[in-house]
Amino acid sequence: MSWERWDEVDRYTEGLLLDADEILQASLDDAAAAGLPTIAVTGNQGKLLHLILRIHGARRVLELGTLGGYSTIWMARALPPDGRLVTLELDPGYAAVAAASIERAGLSGLVDVRVGPAIDSLRALRDEGADPFDLIFIDADKQSTPEYFEQALELCRPGGLIVVDNVILDGKLIDADSDDSRVHGMRRFLELAAAEPRISATTIQTVGSKGYDGFVLALLEP
Ligand SMILES: C[S@@+](CC[C@H](N)C(=O)[O-])C[C@H]1O[C@@H](n2cnc3c(N)ncnc32)[C@H](O)[C@@H]1O
Repeated sequence: MSWERWDEVDRYTEGLLLDADEILQASLDDAAAAGLPTIAVTGNQGKLLHLILRIHGARRVLELGTLGGYSTIWMARALPPDGRLVTLELDPGYAAVAAASIERAGLSGLVDVRVGPAIDSLRALRDEGADPFDLIFIDADKQSTPEYFEQALELCRPGGLIVVDNVILDGKLIDADSDDSRVHGMRRFLELAAAEPRISATTIQTVGSKGYDGFVLALLEP
């Protein structure tokens, strides 16, 4: 089965189940025009995040890795009017593109874009005594995922959900001798998750427009 087929199937199913959406499309177009890498989640994955938030009844969401705000918009649209989404982005230029798209989506009142290394922003959230989050989506630099997961465990409420993207990395995850730091980040993260008694977790392998990859869903036990 080829990447082309996965891409075609994503386009076919998105064409049937996802409404045409000028605001989401504009966020992708503006990100591309500004030279941001095309590494946002797919439409199907964005909607999956949106549905998970709704199923979970999430009111407070934390995202690591904003890029141009595509996944941010999908998730913020699932929040109630008094919800909050804090999203962390290293690159000020990316954050500015995202902020403009979030504004155009009418979501600025719900979304707080914080610029800087995510590890510093996470510490700042703890220092300021931020209320616990219902869902944390980890999608920043992959090699730092273990550190982000450790922080997420402290920032998530009991019964909250931690979602980690790009865990499978085209199957490279199982290459213990890989020279790819992302692989080692994901392997260390999975080892931490396996040893963490407070969570119940599973892995979902995915194929689609972004190739072969996958998520981990980790529920912090109530
Ligand atoms: C895969 S992209 C995020 C995609 C986005 N969640 C989406 O689906 O639309 C990863 C993002 O993490 C950001 N990033 C990389 N290192 C970071 C760090 N140390 N702290 C915060 N953000 C970082 C990158 O600049 C990039 O925008």
